[in-house]
Amino acid sequence: MRITSLLLCVLLAILSIEAVDRGKYKTCSQSSFCTRNRGVTHDGYHIANLHRKSDSQFTADFVSPYLQGRSLTFELTGLLDNTVRVRVVESLPKRYQGPLEVLEPLQEAKLSEKQKSSESTEFTLNSHVTVRIDFYYDGRHTLSANANDFLNFEHLRSKEEDDKIVPSQIPNDEATQPEDYNEAESGPWQRPTKENPKKSGRWEEHFGGHQDTKPNGPTSISMDITFIGSRYVYGIPEHASSLALTPTIRVGDANEREQVTDPYRHYNLDVFEYELNNPMALYGAVPFMIGHGAHGSSAVFWLNSAETWIDVETTTKDASGREKVGTQWISESGNMDIFFIIGPSGHDVLRQYAALTGTTALPPQFTLGYHQCKWNYKDETDVANVDSGFDSHDIPYDVIWLDIEHTDSKKYFTWDQNYFPTPKNMQEKIGDKGRRMVTIVDPHIKREGGYHVHSQAESNNYYVKNKDKNDYDGHCWPGSSSWVDYLKENARDWWEQLFSYYNYQGSTPRLYTWNDMNEPSVFNGPETTMNKDALHLDGVVEHRDVHNLYGMTMVNATARGLIRRHADQNERPFVLSRAFFAGIQKHGAIWTGDNTAGWDHLAVAQPMLLSLGLAGVAFSGADVGGFFGNPDAELVTRWYQAAAFQPFFRGHAHLDSKRREPWLFGEPYTSVIRDAIKSRYQHLPLWYTLFYKNTLTGLPPMRPLFLEFPSEEKIWNNQDQFLVGRELMVVPVTRSQQTTSRVVFPGAQKWYDITDGSSHAGGTEEEVNVPLEKYLVYQQGGTVVPKRERARRTSQHMDTDPFTLQIAVSREGTAEGELYVDDGHTFDFKKGVYSYNQIKLENGNLTYKTLGGVYESQLLIEKIVVYGLSSAPSSVTTVSNEKLDFSYRNGKLVIRKPNLPATREWSLQIKA
Ligand code: NOJ
Repeated sequence: MRITSLLLCVLLAILSIEAVDRGKYKTCSQSSFCTRNRGVTHDGYHIANLHRKSDSQFTADFVSPYLQGRSLTFELTGLLDNTVRVRVVESLPKRYQGPLEVLEPLQEAKLSEKQKSSESTEFTLNSHVTVRIDFYYDGRHTLSANANDFLNFEHLRSKEEDDKIVPSQIPNDEATQPEDYNEAESGPWQRPTKENPKKSGRWEEHFGGHQDTKPNGPTSISMDITFIGSRYVYGIPEHASSLALTPTIRVGDANEREQVTDPYRHYNLDVFEYELNNPMALYGAVPFMIGHGAHGSSAVFWLNSAETWIDVETTTKDASGREKVGTQWISESGNMDIFFIIGPSGHDVLRQYAALTGTTALPPQFTLGYHQCKWNYKDETDVANVDSGFDSHDIPYDVIWLDIEHTDSKKYFTWDQNYFPTPKNMQEKIGDKGRRMVTIVDPHIKREGGYHVHSQAESNNYYVKNKDKNDYDGHCWPGSSSWVDYLKENARDWWEQLFSYYNYQGSTPRLYTWNDMNEPSVFNGPETTMNKDALHLDGVVEHRDVHNLYGMTMVNATARGLIRRHADQNERPFVLSRAFFAGIQKHGAIWTGDNTAGWDHLAVAQPMLLSLGLAGVAFSGADVGGFFGNPDAELVTRWYQAAAFQPFFRGHAHLDSKRREPWLFGEPYTSVIRDAIKSRYQHLPLWYTLFYKNTLTGLPPMRPLFLEFPSEEKIWNNQDQFLVGRELMVVPVTRSQQTTSRVVFPGAQKWYDITDGSSHAGGTEEEVNVPLEKYLVYQQGGTVVPKRERARRTSQHMDTDPFTLQIAVSREGTAEGELYVDDGHTFDFKKGVYSYNQIKLENGNLTYKTLGGVYESQLLIEKIVVYGLSSAPSSVTTVSNEKLDFSYRNGKLVIRKPNLPATREWSLQIKA
């Protein structure tokens, strides 16, 4: 067992000398459906018999000569809050009608054809020649569908039928053999031609020595969508690229289009040593894009879980001089189901998108603390030593993680008896210190007789099938494996029960779960994943249709399992996933996979996490220190400083990487890392409040600047700085030996340095010194940051600690913020057992008002700090006229021990 791991680690070490092996992953020109659609016009799709079906819905027949006499259904539905859904549906039984697991219950709303701009959301539908839809907000044009005639819908057909109709659908500019085409692996290059359509990849395709049989033939769909009034587009994670998406198509003065790179690809893949700044696919996919410009934001959600390619054009201008960004969306199969989200602001589109796919499940409080992981902590002694190392070095942490080696031969839900003989005891010891443990559970199940998970899955038919309807068999960590079909209800139910304390021997309530390799990663599969012609739901659905959804179905079942293991089902679960799809936020957190210990990877974590947040995936993080390789002390220290202000905060490293627990770097590094982690713990009340606010607003805690300062053009593409809520602005150091940082201070309010209270005027730019021990975090004037000042060994130890309210006044002398409190771990908040409070400073009155919930507690506010008052107050008094002690120096007011309740209302008077 251990020998296998050793061999693997040697192999990985050899491989790790090289960067990503591009030849292993398809380019657009190697994908027949991408080539058939990219930049290809199909005029002639139009609609007939449009009629209003209800106040909120229009329906029509979708017709075209391409459809060979078939008529598809076209639907245009108004949804509450400025959203319009457009569907083109082929309802023959064979076409996949999902993904069904993604959407929240939707509420319809009145939809109007544009007349004289009376409704806020309107559309015009032009279908004399080719269908085109334009969307308006208050009479202002925001989005267009099919303005470039890229719409295409390949209906289901027989092979014989296809032979007759195909010549008209083969584009004139057929793909030429790509430079990186590997003939030895993929066989001779087959150019799609009119004369030779069967060789075009329509009914069969080859890549990397793998054959993709396509029993349904060509089934792709495509549409172009133009963001009118936008300069940049954002979102569509996951790519290791910029926040404002780099164009893949250059549009010239005469509207000629030149392909600069491949389109952005959505196809969940396990990419070994991924490269930065390119549109290649990574582990997860959220087909949601936001456009932003002078008039605000609009967005598009392309609900399709098949492989998808997305082109982004350079910004151009329309006839009236407004900026616009064109995009094209191409999916391999599924129906067309597009949500046009009209905004008009960034905050609006995030709320509107959250209404479609849900907000982030409120995380248990401990998950917002620091997590310590390594592939692998070897045995129980190792775990105990790492755990006590944190205590002896006075560094807080909440969760220790065990990677694949903790199992018996990579059989999940088991323990290696030699190294982890007493798992319950180990968890109890950790638990006694207020900490938790996470173990890894992957979706590949070792095909070994006698392994209970395998025998149950096999005998009950819970596995994904291959094209021949036998259990799909591929290679992953355990060797020969099969994959659970989480789309099947009975398989899901069974999986959930595997997490019961009885079934998962050695587990305790302190144990949580990590779902890795769930793209799914198949070592000997095409592009290291599952064959597209594999089958789900007993052969009814092709893997092709649900590939990007698969990982999320696993996370959903795992989270349900963690809930169900408690008799009262009242404990919040925690699952970390590598693969994801739209809506993952309802089930768990994600991380950005196998990054590298390099400065460029530290820097790219920001745009990656910001893009995820914009696409609803608010609880996300990157491996601190970088997974592959060995960071030097400076890099790892700067990484902790940045990640302490990013949502999911976990140190992790590869099997071959040297140990890097925070105290191994020596001074001054260990002290600086300790400060960063402690600062995270002090800000836990802010993080928790922001995650609660996400459930109300859809706004991610970690935000790009443009979301809060939408009219400041020069920061629309800023990815070097980010916000935590609207309260804090973080400017991480991301270069080696960096001694100064250029900081943009947006807005009109002052920004207060949280480490020394010094201030910087809004609307300025400054060069600021950043010695190693300095992390740049500023509080915006007009906000309140709730804190707990004593960073203790775990978040649980801080549960009963009093709060500090750190107020930075605005130029007008006001401030506003919130504090959310509940028990931190149960679902009781759903029954109103919480306290959500607004803190407001206005005209010298500081009020603490409950906005929602009732939570009985003895929790206190022990200190109030106010930055930015121009002079010392004459008095600070309570409503009962009791005078409170305070001090005032250099613009900083400190009200000590006011001992006000944190879960009941109060007010104070700060007299000038
Ligand atoms: C791949 C994951 O991305 C990585 O974090 C993990 O350590 C290895 N699998 C081993 O489980």
